[in-house]
Amino acid sequence: MCGIVGYIGSQQAPSILLEGLGRLEHRGYDSAGLVVRTDGRGTRALRVAKRAGRVRDLADGLPKRFTGTAGIGHTRWATHGPATDVNAHPHTDAGQRVAVVHNGIIDNASALREQLAADGVELVSDTDTEVIAHLVARSPADTLEGKVSDALSVIDGTWGLAVLHADFPDRIVVARNGSPLIVGVGDKEMFVASDLAALVRHTTTVAMLDDGELATVTSGGFTTFRHDLTATAKAATRVDVDPDAYEAGEHASYMHKEMLEQPAAAERMLRGRLDERFGATHLGGLNMEPREFRAIRRVKILGCGSAYYVGQMGAGLIEDLARIPADAEAASEFRYRNPIIEPDTLYVAVSQSGETIDTLLAVQEIRRKGGRVIGLVNVVGSAVARECDGGIYLHAGPEVAVASTKALTNMFLGFALLAIQLGRVRDLSIADGRRLVTALEALPGQIEQVLAKEEEYAAVARTLAEAPSLFFIGRVRGFPVAREGAQKFKEISYRHAEAYQTSELKHGPLALIDPALPTVAVVPADDLTERNVGALHEIAARRGPLVVVTHDGVDLGGVAATRIDVPRSEPELDPILMTLPLQLLAYHAALHLGHDIDKPRNLAKSVTVE
Ligand code: AGP
Repeated sequence: MCGIVGYIGSQQAPSILLEGLGRLEHRGYDSAGLVVRTDGRGTRALRVAKRAGRVRDLADGLPKRFTGTAGIGHTRWATHGPATDVNAHPHTDAGQRVAVVHNGIIDNASALREQLAADGVELVSDTDTEVIAHLVARSPADTLEGKVSDALSVIDGTWGLAVLHADFPDRIVVARNGSPLIVGVGDKEMFVASDLAALVRHTTTVAMLDDGELATVTSGGFTTFRHDLTATAKAATRVDVDPDAYEAGEHASYMHKEMLEQPAAAERMLRGRLDERFGATHLGGLNMEPREFRAIRRVKILGCGSAYYVGQMGAGLIEDLARIPADAEAASEFRYRNPIIEPDTLYVAVSQSGETIDTLLAVQEIRRKGGRVIGLVNVVGSAVARECDGGIYLHAGPEVAVASTKALTNMFLGFALLAIQLGRVRDLSIADGRRLVTALEALPGQIEQVLAKEEEYAAVARTLAEAPSLFFIGRVRGFPVAREGAQKFKEISYRHAEAYQTSELKHGPLALIDPALPTVAVVPADDLTERNVGALHEIAARRGPLVVVTHDGVDLGGVAATRIDVPRSEPELDPILMTLPLQLLAYHAALHLGHDIDKPRNLAKSVTVE
């Protein structure tokens, strides 16, 4: 949540900062701002421009001669105080000698604000961040590093932050604690950012700070240190990324691009991991021996939002294929119930960004209590990936749209690979293993077939978009599909979309069925088809409009419904193919309603605050 970018060198900073902010806007988009160190003769000073609204509003309203060769910028997702010009970052002290941009939350901000106010400091914003600027300005230390360190020593909470100080014009000081901060190395120029996306057009030589680490960044290089100012001597390394992967290209939105990338992303995910001969999978990153796999008695999956729903699909796969009790839980709730951590449970953290604070804190809770946790993570080197004992990288490529699609598909594939691995050291036969490996090999092509029907789904979506409220229903394997379908629909269309187990309808929700409330039903060809079709009749009898995601050949018993057929896989793998049309329904409903697809209101890509 929120994005930070910084530059120091010989080029004009504002255009570099604005371009970087544009690339980070998906992380927070209710206000934006930047500060530059002016390079004129006389007293070097800081100039700030900030406002509520999008980065393009900031760029359009930038004052004339807003120049400088060092600066920091921010795009905000509001936590403390509404999205106003004053609450936008950067925040400064009263004399505007210090400017700070900050991601994260300061837990003791109220107490610090009171103390500062009692000392006569006038706080102008509602934010927690402003206190950092005042604390840095008031520190008696004679170096900027010392001042920042002093300020952070009284702060509780999380931060990725960057500080510019008029009295120390040759440097930017940055710090990380729970919120990513990356230093990018250029040729006699240096960059800082909260996300690689803002750097890749300039440099792919980077150093990622660890929690508790700070760095001094000058145009000539950087040095890293701890809060007590002792050096950590971190070196920069080259990351293997394709800058074009961060562009939307010919697509109208990142979400559209990312949905269509799913066949290729799925292929990357499976490459080198399938063993046809033994009907098994290769997952070297787990760092586990077959004996250790055998010792697992339970699997607990933790993730948030859509990652949690795919985790539910994953739990189903593990129970089906490995016959190990498995369940998924919202990581955001997990640590607050003082969870019992069992030595023979395998904990699995699942996250696209690897930054989601609730998932990260759940991982830390498990490890603190001695549990073994593996990660299914997309962003290489992210906090969750680094905290886990091992893992499976998702290889989905950068995902920019707030609504996650290709990463979720690859999470499902990750769970399928894990379930086969766990199954094959138990009772999953070689024949069954081969059956699933063959089905996985066919999946990228089948994903492509589903996506090719986009226009068909678009027409259905336009009808659904007219309804203020919708149900998504499914049973057993189909229920997490329905949950994810409802999540995607509400996230970008802003329609009220609720998921129920089909079997639960009669226990309450059926009261809401009428001609104005459509139901999207997930009805695979499986043991429950007849029962599912029975429920469709009950809905139709109450004149509820129906869209049914199903398989070719499933007899819906003459019920009046719009039918979406997806290709059949093996029953265990059906959920992912049934999820794809639901992504496209959400996308086309939002498009029809004229919403900003990639930046839905009130949300941000990575949830890095509790
Ligand atoms: C997905 O469309 C959502 N934007 C959201 O629920 C997301 O899946 C969740 O916040 C978890 O993010 P993560 O995968 O980066 O941890």
